[in-house]
Amino acid sequence: MNAPFPQKVTKLIFLKYFDLESPEEMEEEIPVVICAAPGRMGAAVAAISSIYSNTDSNVLFYVVGLRNGIPHIRKWIENSRLKDIKFKIVEFNPMVLKGKIRPDAARPELLQPLNFVRFYLPLLIHEHEKVIYLDDDVIVQGDIQDLYDTKLSHGHAAAFSNDCDLPSTHEMVRSVGMQNTYMGFLDYRKQTIRDLGISPSTCSFNPGVIVANMTEWKHQRITKQLEKWMQKNVEENLYSSTLAGGVATSPMLLVFHGKYSPINPLWHIRHLGWSPDTRYSEHFLQEAKLLHWNGRYKPWDYPSVHTDLWEKWFVPDPSGTFKLVRPNS
Ligand SMILES: *[C@@H]1O[C@H](CO)[C@@H](O)[C@H](O)[C@H]1NC(C)=O
Repeated sequence: MNAPFPQKVTKLIFLKYFDLESPEEMEEEIPVVICAAPGRMGAAVAAISSIYSNTDSNVLFYVVGLRNGIPHIRKWIENSRLKDIKFKIVEFNPMVLKGKIRPDAARPELLQPLNFVRFYLPLLIHEHEKVIYLDDDVIVQGDIQDLYDTKLSHGHAAAFSNDCDLPSTHEMVRSVGMQNTYMGFLDYRKQTIRDLGISPSTCSFNPGVIVANMTEWKHQRITKQLEKWMQKNVEENLYSSTLAGGVATSPMLLVFHGKYSPINPLWHIRHLGWSPDTRYSEHFLQEAKLLHWNGRYKPWDYPSVHTDLWEKWFVPDPSGTFKLVRPNS
């Protein structure tokens, strides 16, 4: 903290004296992983546009899609105001999940294979040690560099936002029945779960915003551990799978129990998609650095809340295929 030359100053000195042609090369690249899922690619596009518009840092977007969707997302980026972003499009092969997910007739959309991309980050990212993963249904209002600067404690492979660490305005959302403990995600009637000795009242965390260390992730074989808990769920049905996002959250709660660093709560204001009638105060939303519409009521759909805060970053589909659902439209 008391270093004589804070990093920013050093950078300025370099720029001044060496007169580099491309000062951007000097800056650390920030890799951000976002999935572009079929039927909701507009979500990824809005998230990317919000990040890009609110930072001067050097962001490299990893846009992950399924094979059929890749030409569409590429055209969308290249033929819109997003054409100047730095990005790589990566195909995710859902065969890797074969035998690891349980069919859920109640909410098949949660079984969208791209929900599991976050389990496989080191297969995607080779050149960077630290990476950010974001769900597609977020909007970033702060400078993504601040999130990237989240400190990971020694021995931690990731940072998440803790569900008990919510600002007090979340009380309102809590009152509409949101789950914030392990009990909401794991079936404590099952011996396998009880044998873990994790208290059911342990606070859960939301893996929709992740800052991760790939070195530590590989070292701890996190992907293998997550796969083990997916497989066990297929055999023993251990999770409360009806919960929003539960299918991908439960294995993470198990693998990262007691082993993650916190993310500043303002960097993950969530549950905006929880109910069509629950709203936050405008003042509070202005302070928020990242907004997450987790839940059923998505801002590209109708009904939804605080839709204006999302739509402001939306970039229309040049092919006209993706359309916002709005009343009277
Ligand atoms: C990532 O983890 C490795 C291994 O523990 C550690 O040496 C390194 O400093 C960590 N990097 C960051 C950016 O936290």
